[in-house]
Amino acid sequence: MSKVLIVDDDRVNRELLAALLEEIGEPTAVAHDGPSCLAQCREDDIGVVLLDIMMPGMDGYEVCRTLKEDPATSLLPVIMVTAHGDREARVRGIQAGADDFLTKPVDSGELLPRVRSALRTHHLIDQTYTVYALAASLSSALEARDAYTHQHANRVANYASRTAEAMGISRRDRQELYLGGLLHDIGKVGIPDAILRKPGPLSLEEYQVIQTHPAIGAHICDTTRGLGSVSRIVLCHHERWDGAGYPNHLAGLDIPRLARIVAVTDAFDAMTTDRPYHRGISVGAACEELKRCRGTQFDPEVVDAFLSADVYDMAREVADALHVRDVLRL
Ligand SMILES: [Fe+2]
Repeated sequence: MSKVLIVDDDRVNRELLAALLEEIGEPTAVAHDGPSCLAQCREDDIGVVLLDIMMPGMDGYEVCRTLKEDPATSLLPVIMVTAHGDREARVRGIQAGADDFLTKPVDSGELLPRVRSALRTHHLIDQTYTVYALAASLSSALEARDAYTHQHANRVANYASRTAEAMGISRRDRQELYLGGLLHDIGKVGIPDAILRKPGPLSLEEYQVIQTHPAIGAHICDTTRGLGSVSRIVLCHHERWDGAGYPNHLAGLDIPRLARIVAVTDAFDAMTTDRPYHRGISVGAACEELKRCRGTQFDPEVVDAFLSADVYDMAREVADALHVRDVLRL
């Protein structure tokens, strides 16, 4: 269970806050200065920091800034404890990245809901981050097997996020889409190397084996905690707008919207990168191909949204793809 870290140079204040929190069943840890707070946040299971401002050496602002700049602790909620009516302290606290404020002397009726709400936020962020980290490592496990798809999933996820933004899709759906993009080909872990890495064209039987990867991937997502919501994207990323795709020959709006986005960005990235069976074509030529297949292979709305962005610029940016942590801020 995550602890509330009380940071104060004054022993009486520390003991008072610890007593209030322990009375309501929240486990606590204490730190008497900035450096020991930073060390505990990195090493211990801390869920929220209750931070005093005036401390010798590093003051609360500096501690807060350091926590927010360190990728290992930047998502940890920080509640600053300020003197009553000290508006300037709150402004400086916000600038340092504080998430919330409590006024001294701390009122127990105010302390409980603030701390509980911060712990809930921390728990949610932690869960979400774990899911993204899992998706990223699954996708790099696949890329390690198939060198030709190096960074493919990451680029597909990033193109898809940008396209979805142009379509006005909600933040929550964009996060789901990003996971779906990362994992769209995860079912290829179930395809034998002799087929997956074959440099020449595939026989009909081999192609049928390849076509099982969306269902294998959907099964992996369905049976992995936290990934169930993306299994529809994974299952449907090879469906076509005209119904000629696989595995279920869905057509038009019957194909989940987020899967229609991955279909376009997957095709774009596949066209513009070298594969064992073809040389990559230019960004301009790939855009022409998307236009040609608009309304047959691809959802016209998605193609329009994709092309409405500066595709050259997007391709350059995506080469420098987002990290998992950035996704939480999408
Ligand atoms: Fe695929």
